[in-house]
Amino acid sequence: MKQRAYTVRLFEYNRPDDLPEEQQKLIQRAKEAARNAYAPYSNYYVGAAALLANGETIVGNNQENAAYPSGLCAERVAIFYAGARYPGVPVKSIAIAAMREDSFQEEPVAPCGGCRQVLYEKETQGKAPMEVILYGSNKIQVIKQVSDLLPLPFKLESL
Ligand code: THU
Repeated sequence: MKQRAYTVRLFEYNRPDDLPEEQQKLIQRAKEAARNAYAPYSNYYVGAAALLANGETIVGNNQENAAYPSGLCAERVAIFYAGARYPGVPVKSIAIAAMREDSFQEEPVAPCGGCRQVLYEKETQGKAPMEVILYGSNKIQVIKQVSDLLPLPFKLESL
């Protein structure tokens, strides 16, 4: 029997100002996107902003539906739209912010398992690390690559 351990490396900051300007701008775009989410059922508003290797920024937010499972998370809206608008262009970085009742969550909000899978495949196809920036009003966490967030992914080679 072998035992294996996976390590998740996180970089924590107290304020957006402590981050480089490019990341600050991306957080700002994710916060704006959260305010435009369509979330009348959960009242939980999530925004994601993806910086592409061509310099473009694509935003997404959660889109809910009266048929609940038909809704989609902010991260997937952003990643799928990036794929539709700029096929094949890698995503360098994605920022995520979530709010309820007009205030942003104090603690960073991490993407759900389904979104991690989608982010992972985008990272793999881009052949370069995709940085994940999790915004909280008290703390910001930066993960250098999606594979750190999803240590045992389902891979297309498995099909
Ligand atoms: N949600 C996201 O947009 N991203 C996540 O990573 C987790 C959850 C959305 C889905 C749903 O509209 C609401 O937040 C409550 O789960």
